[in-house]
Amino acid sequence: MSSSIRYLFEPRNVAIIGASKDPKKIGYKILSNLIASGYRGAIYPINPAGGEILGRQVYPSIQAVPERVDVVCTTIPAAHVFDAVKACADCGVRYNLIISSGFSEVGNTEEEHRIAAYAQNAGMRIVGPNIFGVYSAEASMDATFGPGNILPGSVAIVTQSGALGLAMIGKTHVENIGLSAIVSVGNKCDVDEADLLEYLTEQRRTRVILMYIEGIKNGPRFIEAVKKATRVKPVVVIKSGRSERGAVAAASHTGSLAGSDEIVDAIFRQCGVMRADSIRDAFNWCKYLAHSPPPTSDQAVIITNGGGIGVMATDACERYHVELYDDGKTLKKLFGPVTPSFGSTKNPIDITGGAAGAEYDAALTVALKHKGIGASIALYCETATFLAADLERVLENTYRNYQEKKKPILFAIVGGEEIEHALVRLSRKNVPVFGDVYEAVSCLGVLYRYHRYLKNRDEVYETFAFDGAPIEEICRNARAQGRSFLLAHEAQQIMAHVGIPVPRSTVARSLSEAVQAAESIGFPVVMKVVSRDIIHKSDAGGVALNLESRDEVIDAYQAIMQNCRAYNPNAVIEGVEVAEMLLKDVETIIGARRDPAFGPIIMFGLGGIYVEVMKDVAFRALPLSRREITEMIKETRTYPLLLGVRGEAQKDLEAVITSIVKLGALMSRCTMISDIEINPLMVYEQGLGAKAVDVRILLSQDERSLS
Ligand code: COA
Repeated sequence: MSSSIRYLFEPRNVAIIGASKDPKKIGYKILSNLIASGYRGAIYPINPAGGEILGRQVYPSIQAVPERVDVVCTTIPAAHVFDAVKACADCGVRYNLIISSGFSEVGNTEEEHRIAAYAQNAGMRIVGPNIFGVYSAEASMDATFGPGNILPGSVAIVTQSGALGLAMIGKTHVENIGLSAIVSVGNKCDVDEADLLEYLTEQRRTRVILMYIEGIKNGPRFIEAVKKATRVKPVVVIKSGRSERGAVAAASHTGSLAGSDEIVDAIFRQCGVMRADSIRDAFNWCKYLAHSPPPTSDQAVIITNGGGIGVMATDACERYHVELYDDGKTLKKLFGPVTPSFGSTKNPIDITGGAAGAEYDAALTVALKHKGIGASIALYCETATFLAADLERVLENTYRNYQEKKKPILFAIVGGEEIEHALVRLSRKNVPVFGDVYEAVSCLGVLYRYHRYLKNRDEVYETFAFDGAPIEEICRNARAQGRSFLLAHEAQQIMAHVGIPVPRSTVARSLSEAVQAAESIGFPVVMKVVSRDIIHKSDAGGVALNLESRDEVIDAYQAIMQNCRAYNPNAVIEGVEVAEMLLKDVETIIGARRDPAFGPIIMFGLGGIYVEVMKDVAFRALPLSRREITEMIKETRTYPLLLGVRGEAQKDLEAVITSIVKLGALMSRCTMISDIEINPLMVYEQGLGAKAVDVRILLSQDERSLS
């Protein structure tokens, strides 16, 4: 961990610029929270009026403070912030938390940049502006203007939304969720999630990290930081803007397939981040993940006193990818002795409506002791045979037993008022009990998901070495001609440089050359016009397929020339591309594009003309391992086609993976390229490879990438 970020969470002293005697002001509230939270370092209230606030001596300026300050909270109107920042930076302040609003969030971007630039020059870090502050359990420091009384614990919250973050402070208190830290990042003019993850990943006290994110500025840095974090602890993210339209410019055909949210979603999954849609899910998950041991095997058991709720839990298990233990013989042997004859030993184990404390205890103890059962889900529907008071005691004891033996368990209980009260009391004691089976199972689902991620995570990414210089040359030439796209034969040359097979082809500049080319390639062939002035070749009548003979080639050549001249009389026609006519097989699409936030993104999906209609595509960010590429392919509905349908032979999956690896390497090496789309990538039977039939390459509009 860079020692610098530690100063933010474990400062030796804190100053408040704008500390006020007025209890209604933020500058008062932060000071009073800081004192009330038991912060042990020195506190320096700063206000030109001097005097005392809450028994603390007030300093007239930051210059008057007798030592170097680690953290300053700036709580004065925006118009005065720059001067205060300047004074702090000049005094060697390490972190400045700018609470004040009135910057880029209201269009005052210039002032925010001015502040950030000055601070950066002087080596002072800025959190915010437009934030509510920082709480750190490590330093018993509540430097926020929140409601106070934060419970120290093991969940760290990083939030971009101030108001939501403040509300979360209160909510965590009600839900008895202890916090290790809460940081509001606001406009993120300097410190962002990646900086904070660096500290929270290594800090022992933090067991789970919860982030509320609206936008990510530096995607590759975020990906790197979050991957490091999920390697050691779960990260739950609420990312709003699922329906947000087009943060990513749809530069190409491919581009229009993905709203930015799909990309964010794919990247979160790729990094092992658990994305929650609601605060309720996020809190449930964090609380559970913070306290639960890892599952001891891949399969769980459901124990219930009611059939219906058992079926619901089974459905929930499927939704949240919780596998159920299903070795019937073993289940019968294990649970037969603790289940009435009219119950069921098939998972869900139904110990029936007559079950009371002893029966639950017996069944759950069996599950606890058996190694093949990785976790237990205990369900209870209110009955007259098992009263709420007993239930509470049994659930609490069972939970403690499971914790002691390090096996996960969750409870879902449904009933009247007494049950609701029991639920609240148990929950306050951190017993994982829910009033809804789906909520309970979703927690177990994320626990399994996280541990599966840890088991399968890769450290080694695919690389592919090639000479990028000739490719850059092709791109530069195209740019010199004022084009932001490559012609088909240029794209094919690039494919040849990275070794992605393309159909054999030649550009013929006359009829005789076309005939010669067709004869040397072998019939059937296809012909396409080559002209930078004609992009939609089919529309112009510039394409002829399945030409079987010399005569057909002659006719087609003449027809193409005539059609294209009629379509655009001013078009400069460079010739006609004559290419091998490919046999049809599984048509896939592979593509890549440079996302403004996340850098190169790779795509795989169903190819051909139905791409737009079916939208069966999956995305990943670079770098990628072979396993991750395989998983991306498996995510699509196209995947079974590659396995072979109805007696078809299996297709060459390896060839697809290798093509994707090469595409990734091309995007990483050649920054001039902004988008590539290969559609279709025709995939043949295993061993016969894949061919890039149509390749479109767009060049970056960003002049910097040309240097
Ligand atoms: N150094 C030290 N103290 C200064 C100062 C300076 N350069 N300039 C002003 N002050 C003092 C003021 O005199 C005042 O003290 P007083 O009460 O003793 O008079 C105190 O600092 C606060 O200044 P004031 O002008 O009263 O501002 P305020 O408290 O009404 O508002 C903010 C200040 C920062 C709270 C307000 O501008 C703001 O941005 N509010 C929104 C905050 C927010 O929502 N943030 C995001 C949360 S998620």
